[in-house]
Amino acid sequence: MTTMKAARIHQFGGVESIVIDNVPRPTPSDDQVLVHVHAAGINPIDVAIHTGAIRDYGFDPPLPHTLGSEISGIVKAVGANVHTFRPGDAVVAVLGFPGGGYAEYVAVTPNLLAHKPAAVSHLHMAGVPIAGLAAWQALFEHAQLQRGQRVLVLAASGGVGTFAVQFARWAGAQVWGTTSTRNLAFVRSLGATPIDYTAGPFEDAVGDIDLVIDPLAGDSQVRAWRTLKPNGALISVVAPPSDPQGTRHTGMVIVQRSTQKIAQLTEIGRLLALNEIHVEIDEVLPFGNVHQALRKSAGGHARGKIILDLQTQE
Ligand SMILES: NC(=O)c1ccc[n+]([C@@H]2O[C@H](COP(=O)([O-])OP(=O)(O)OC[C@H]3O[C@@H](n4cnc5c(N)ncnc54)[C@H](OP(=O)(O)O)[C@@H]3O)[C@@H](O)[C@H]2O)c1
Repeated sequence: MTTMKAARIHQFGGVESIVIDNVPRPTPSDDQVLVHVHAAGINPIDVAIHTGAIRDYGFDPPLPHTLGSEISGIVKAVGANVHTFRPGDAVVAVLGFPGGGYAEYVAVTPNLLAHKPAAVSHLHMAGVPIAGLAAWQALFEHAQLQRGQRVLVLAASGGVGTFAVQFARWAGAQVWGTTSTRNLAFVRSLGATPIDYTAGPFEDAVGDIDLVIDPLAGDSQVRAWRTLKPNGALISVVAPPSDPQGTRHTGMVIVQRSTQKIAQLTEIGRLLALNEIHVEIDEVLPFGNVHQALRKSAGGHARGKIILDLQTQE
């Protein structure tokens, strides 16, 4: 039996509950693609899964569970019914909640896979699927952003925020972004007017906003209503918004994965290859440091994406 390493939980708990196990390498079914994982992105949902907080949202993953919701890698083998990918293709995958990405190999259906542009590294591409698709679907599907609109991105220096700022700018919007003092210059470099949330209420610093993108929820979401026009929109990727005035458009994004949505990942890859946008990487950590990577994500202050390098064990 051929084995591989996989970062799994056998019980919910802190990062110490994550074990790098030797497990059988998956065999792709006739309808699957086997991907040799080169890099995997870290997301807050992985923290919610290993701690068990995910159960508060009605998801109860069977254990043991292999973490990891997004990857970039090389196709190793394809099932008999797969005609859109071939061994050797460089690909990116949005695995989502079923996970499986913190492993040397993962078997996936082709509707979760896009071709990776040659100009974009695996380390960068692995950081795109979850945060990139959340930002894309919030801006262009839920809000149908128009050129010239005024957009406020909360947590503009985070995974979702960095993509949301760049996509909104690319689409011709005027963008503001909340961040802490140390990230002000960084958020400006992405194309947003930065607002230091540690210096005073962000809602006093900007107004007349058409669209708020919310990766924070809680008090920040509540305060964001004050910045919006009467016919504005607030789209959250964390918690369903409730408009106190009842006049604004509201929406809640849960990243959708399908053949149609995967075209969005291909389009984001095209923008990356053209240098229209970039993936901000906070830190790349070797696979063996998965605990450190998740601890850092849980701290809530990553600048852009934390990436696991599956090609490096220690
Ligand atoms: N529904 C979906 O499909 C979906 C998809 C992706 C993500 N999400 C969710 O969206 C949330 C954000 O994800 P993410 O990957 O963007 O997280 P992240 O990268 O871990 O966010 C970290 C960023 O948040 C900023 N931040 C923290 N507190 C802030 C505050 N009070 N005001 C402004 N910025 C603040 C930090 O900036 P400073 O260091 O400057 O404070 C840091 O840059 C998570 O809850 C995640 O689960 C949902």
